[in-house]
Amino acid sequence: MSSDLRPAVPVRPTRALVSASAIAHNLAELRRVLPRATSIIGVVKADAYGHGAVLVARALAAARVDWLGVAVAEEGIALREAGIQTPILVLDGIFEPQLDLALQERLTPVVFSEAQLAPLAAAAARRGGRIPAVHVKIDTGMGRLGLLPGEVGGFAALARSMGIPVAAVMSHLANADTGDEETSRAQMARLDAAVKVFRDLGFPPFEQHLANTAAALEMPEACRALVRPGLALYGHVPAPRLADKVRLRPALSWVTEILQIKRVPAGYPVSYGGLYRTARPSSLAVLPVGYADGYRRSMTGRIAVLVRGRRVPVAGAITMDLTIIDVTDAPAARVGDPVVLIGRQGEDEITVQELAAAAGTIPYEIFCGIGPRVPRVGVP
Ligand SMILES: Cc1ncc(COP(=O)(O)O)c(C=O)c1O
Repeated sequence: MSSDLRPAVPVRPTRALVSASAIAHNLAELRRVLPRATSIIGVVKADAYGHGAVLVARALAAARVDWLGVAVAEEGIALREAGIQTPILVLDGIFEPQLDLALQERLTPVVFSEAQLAPLAAAAARRGGRIPAVHVKIDTGMGRLGLLPGEVGGFAALARSMGIPVAAVMSHLANADTGDEETSRAQMARLDAAVKVFRDLGFPPFEQHLANTAAALEMPEACRALVRPGLALYGHVPAPRLADKVRLRPALSWVTEILQIKRVPAGYPVSYGGLYRTARPSSLAVLPVGYADGYRRSMTGRIAVLVRGRRVPVAGAITMDLTIIDVTDAPAARVGDPVVLIGRQGEDEITVQELAAAAGTIPYEIFCGIGPRVPRVGVP
């Protein structure tokens, strides 16, 4: 019997619940606040920021998102294997050994150097098809991927001579999240200059894009034909000042259940190094989640969870697979009780922003860090 026919292995109750209706709502909200003619590239790279790429892409495709953006070709191929038909842009480019399969799967490459053009043309010729239209990335000030402004002329002339179709000229903003609009405007001016180079060389009309969530929400001039929001689709804004611009619903909750409960006396040391010592006779509960799941050890002493609708502290060092909480103030807590690490329970909510602050990082990294041992479960 093939191993594929074996029933799925039952897993512990630590899971990320991802709401398809929240994703669809967030896409609709973005459409409501964006300029009417703007199309959306839903950024689902890095397993949809840890939310589960197939689950999220299905929700976005059902809501008729215009494009999906992945980082690498293998992410795009996985979406095609899952039956996603939406146009897919490979934001970080396609490596040469991936080109044949990527073209077969109708993935659109981002290109950022002259050296990428000949292998692309060769791969298209091997397939006996046309060279796919590319999105050309310009480094307008991020200092990351893209042609430097001084390289645009040479690149465009080569692309023209090789007959490479250009579907879009794009860039990425370095300071949109911080609200430094002057820097963003300088980047836009450099994109405009690059666009002019392609137009002056006689390229047929093409699109432009450079706005992430922050720019899409507060810089209408950054909303070109396309925008590339990621975080907003998952229900969050990258800075508190943007919260009033759009009514988003967090799509992910991270939940588990109590594995063991014990009564311990006052002065009892908890977890590695005894960093937490009970101040009174206490109840401790053990949770089946740890830093191997992305529940980061650096949050030790700074984070709480929800049990029986009540906020209780994490006690002592978060360990690889287990975390201890102090449930003395939630005396009804029992083995098997649901526990919320991120999300709502009763009147209270633990936000991803709280976890990020406790870990000294950003919500993006908390989401992306939720490990592969945590199943992503689609919920309505
Ligand atoms: C090239 C590119 N475009 C768009 C985004 C989406 O950004 P955000 O999630 O802030 O909307 C990212 C995110 O890292 C990115 O790297």
